[in-house]
Amino acid sequence: MIVTTKKLFEAAYGKYAIGAYNINNLEQTMGLFRGNLDSQAPFIIQISKGARAYTHQKMLEAMIRAAEEIFPDAIFAVHLDHGDEQTCYDAINSGFYSSVMIDASHEDFETNIAITRRVVEAAHAKGVVVEAELGQLGGVEEHVQVSEADAKLTDPDQAKEFVERTGCDSLACAIGTSHGAFKFTGNQALRFDVLAEIQKRLPGFPLVMHGSSSVPQEEVDRINAAGGALKGARGVDANQFKRAAELGVTKINIDTDGRLVWTRVHREYFLEHPENFDLRPIGKVFMSEYAKFIAAKNEKLGSAGQLENVRKMLAVA
Ligand code: G3H
Ligand code: 13P
Ligand code: ZN
Repeated sequence: MIVTTKKLFEAAYGKYAIGAYNINNLEQTMGLFRGNLDSQAPFIIQISKGARAYTHQKMLEAMIRAAEEIFPDAIFAVHLDHGDEQTCYDAINSGFYSSVMIDASHEDFETNIAITRRVVEAAHAKGVVVEAELGQLGGVEEHVQVSEADAKLTDPDQAKEFVERTGCDSLACAIGTSHGAFKFTGNQALRFDVLAEIQKRLPGFPLVMHGSSSVPQEEVDRINAAGGALKGARGVDANQFKRAAELGVTKINIDTDGRLVWTRVHREYFLEHPENFDLRPIGKVFMSEYAKFIAAKNEKLGSAGQLENVRKMLAVA
């Protein structure tokens, strides 16, 4: 059943975070649904602009609709990840997405507000909810001076003003993470102090953490042992997810870790089976490994085992 992220956040706020997973293809879609049902978790499917263009946005839509039929017990939101204004309108008008992200975080404060406000109006008119972003992810490097690094993080006072003026339904905050497999070069960590200040000003308001892959060392080592070259890859400690959830983070975005599973499975498989040229055996291994990865991640997020609670909440509403 497709629901809005808003409904999922009402159930999760302050207790756990919902996993938001990016998908691109059939095998990821099957593994995603299986892993979430195996762990009895509600979840968010994220579709980026790049994913829409990879095959065709209609192909992704058809796969997800088919998965909804194959797995009727699943409860999930379909979310546009990092949309620009036009892609948000396309997604809103498609009638398929229950949630869109407008990412105008690279614009100045007033322009970000104006663009986000326009998208919120269009989305709410169609019952679609909106995630917006304030602050800039990525590249808070060790050599950057403290005040310089802080300038990229979300300003808690601005966050309150931004939410009030845009009417957005959730806010992606920059608290020290970045996208991809190379998040930290040294001793940087998540800025829970900044998150706590944002929650103080926006009590009960759902916050979102992007760039939250853990880039497990074991996964990186296995990829490298099978011929990969990922040197110095590092991610977010998944044991910190529950603390983030207590501070108002209800959605945690994970893409890179899924790509690492894909890379590890394929590198190892072809190394061990050089004679193979059939795509189905490896596809089966990947779907199974991806499902295991999703279920394990949901344990860390605290969303595992919450599916029936969400179903009951939706039945009452
Ligand atoms: O935040 C970005 C996501 O990891 C999506 O990546 O744009 O390459 O699909 P992508
Ligand atoms: P990762 O690159 O850490 O997986 O982050 C994904 C993300 O934020 C998608 O919006
Ligand atoms: Zn992101």
